[in-house]
Amino acid sequence: DKAGHKHFMAKEIAEQPTVIGEALSHYVHDAGIDLPQTLDFAALDRIVMVACGTAFYACLTAKYWFEQLAGLPVEVDIASEFRYREPPIGPNTLAVFVSQSGETADTLAALRYCAEKAQIAAVTNVETSSIARESDVNLPIHAGAEIGVASTKAFTCQLTVLVLMALKAAHARGRIDDATLAARLAELRNLPGRLNLALGQAPQIAAAARAVAEAEDVLFLGRGQMYPLAMEGALKLKEISYIHAEGYASGELKHGPIALIDQTVPVIVMAPHDHLFDKTVSNMQEVMARGGQVLLITDSEGAKTASDGTWRTLVMPDCPALFEPILYALPAQLLAYHAAIAKGTDVDQPRNLAKSVTVE
Ligand code: F6R
Repeated sequence: DKAGHKHFMAKEIAEQPTVIGEALSHYVHDAGIDLPQTLDFAALDRIVMVACGTAFYACLTAKYWFEQLAGLPVEVDIASEFRYREPPIGPNTLAVFVSQSGETADTLAALRYCAEKAQIAAVTNVETSSIARESDVNLPIHAGAEIGVASTKAFTCQLTVLVLMALKAAHARGRIDDATLAARLAELRNLPGRLNLALGQAPQIAAAARAVAEAEDVLFLGRGQMYPLAMEGALKLKEISYIHAEGYASGELKHGPIALIDQTVPVIVMAPHDHLFDKTVSNMQEVMARGGQVLLITDSEGAKTASDGTWRTLVMPDCPALFEPILYALPAQLLAYHAAIAKGTDVDQPRNLAKSVTVE
């Protein structure tokens, strides 16, 4: 049931404020985060995170959170590489497997490799799935069934559970006090409202997407915790609109991809006004100086200081920096969705793709 939407993907994008609220209500109580007692973040030396595709980008985002908030070293890998590499897994390692379906063959094989070597946590959307069942600690994301092949609400619910894990780890390791944790949780409770405001920008995003749909190649740029989202935005666009897209760290631009820039290549810059904003803006100016068409996705402060000379600027609601990757996932998804609509592709069933990849 598409609930009045044209596609499951549109429904699932629109559901995000609700399902993220749901996920929060499962894990957040009063001023604390309820996670299984066996998850002892204070005793950990390191976290290893393994996944494929969009779930991999959720892990890459979480690396920024675990390292910055909790001071925990994190290694992230795609499952098909990890499983054959024979990576050493020391004691006091938590191995986290993120998978919407819970059945992805490579992710499951990577989990089995880690069994007995590390504590295994699963972050999945299917509580009866193989990955959930074979883990020591199971953390469901509570996104509800996701039908569209391109993952949307599962991604943001994965991010929600992962940021809660990082906050819990920070608290358990004495890096944030009770009051700070309570303040972050209060901000999280406001996140669904901000996501609704972002969804309100859909007409402007759709207009930009129709222009992007004419391009053959698109670059996405981001810095810091927005870098994984740049890659996720590119993946979403190529999956459903079949437009070639790449996501890069803004600082990598001059190490190669800037050679691609001309007026036919839209460059989508995901940059809220954070502590790295000025650096991203100077990368953006390098693009514009070479005739590149910049679509800047930012907040009100960012738009005030940096929209001069951009092709278009999309203004997202203001949001505490920590949660911006969740908020900015929405315009990335909507861009891909509306570009696909403009191209007339099969949004919910893109060619060559399967919802659950149970063979390697
Ligand atoms: C992208 C997408 C895929 C999946 C990947 C992992 O929109 O859906 O990249 O994220 O196949 O699938 P799960 O999360 O089920 O392990």
